[in-house]
Amino acid sequence: MTLFGHLDPYAGDPILSLNEAFQTDARAHKVNLSIGIYFDDAGRIPVLECVHLAEARMLAEDGAKPYLPMEGALSMRAAVQALLFGADHPALGSGRIATLQTVGSSGGLKVGADFIRRWLPASEVWISDPSWDNHRAMFEGAGIAVHSYPYYDAAGGGVRFDAMCTALAALPPRSVVLLHACCHNPTGVDLTHEQWRALVPVLRERQLLPFLDLAYQGYGDGIAEDAFAPRLLASEGLSFFVANSFSKSMSVYGERAGALSVVCADRDEAALVLGQLKAIVRRIYSSPAIHAAGIVSRVLGEHDLRTLWEADVAAMRMRILAMRRSLHAVLSAKKPGRDFGYFLTQRGMFSYTGLTAPQVDRLREEYAVYLVRSGRICVAGLNRGNVERTAEAIAAVID
Ligand code: LMR
Repeated sequence: MTLFGHLDPYAGDPILSLNEAFQTDARAHKVNLSIGIYFDDAGRIPVLECVHLAEARMLAEDGAKPYLPMEGALSMRAAVQALLFGADHPALGSGRIATLQTVGSSGGLKVGADFIRRWLPASEVWISDPSWDNHRAMFEGAGIAVHSYPYYDAAGGGVRFDAMCTALAALPPRSVVLLHACCHNPTGVDLTHEQWRALVPVLRERQLLPFLDLAYQGYGDGIAEDAFAPRLLASEGLSFFVANSFSKSMSVYGERAGALSVVCADRDEAALVLGQLKAIVRRIYSSPAIHAAGIVSRVLGEHDLRTLWEADVAAMRMRILAMRRSLHAVLSAKKPGRDFGYFLTQRGMFSYTGLTAPQVDRLREEYAVYLVRSGRICVAGLNRGNVERTAEAIAAVID
């Protein structure tokens, strides 16, 4: 009898394990479209100049590394609020937003999930069909039942908006509705502004609790543009959660830089919420990372770094759009009569290709092109050196 012999073997994570398998593939022409990471045209994860400069300025300072408070650095928390809601948004002045720095936006999702489990124990969570592979696991891991609402229209390539609203309008009050604020993962298909506006009365009338996931800010239509949803919901006076990430927008994946904001009814409620969020943080990881706070606070708060950052985010977004156009052009030429227009209309890092799991397996085995088995590709893994070859490989595996 051993202590651990009865454990189930871990099947691995559909995204992270695939990314690990890619690293060990010896084929020189391999292409990584598996994980939501931005690679530059040379296939490298860029170090943004603004981040490099922020780190240099941090190094030149005192250098002491005390614990941050449970809620993280005040400078970062204030900068996050201005970034998400706009510096002049009345919700900021009213003090009704509780924001804490978290360990990536995954940390924000986890802290939010534990908070819901503790303080809204009857609430269950609804995620889009489909959603990021880890959403369900995260909320279920916190002990919350997870269901899905209709979202992606596989036939038309858009959102099944009427079906989505009908489903949400029938939920029990205080149900949690997880929504992708921009750059929907995995489909790349977002709600339009009109649809967001039409969603507000549904959320309000059913007293639903929106939980926005904003991991790809800047990769859709722009930094401020991609924050349309939190700004709208806050203006409409709703209470909601938003977990946001700097992993992608600042290319600081391993720094685990993220935040969780809870927009409340008023300042007093926000203070209560922040207190209980701190209690949850203390029980999980005590406090977040000081280096992440330093980078984000400086890049968002120092004018020269902010200017560099905004230009870099725009350049990354434009490069992805160029890759979308190339993929579309090669595939349309190779497979005349088929409509690949979705590559052009989907937003952010991901495209949902409709490739089946066996086709995905063939792409990996025969062509060294890695993507998750749902058929999602990370367009940011394409570059001028591999896009044509990748498009030809895709053309070869589809009928
Ligand atoms: C993805 O969806 O590929 C990214 O969000 C990375 C991850 O943690 O899954």
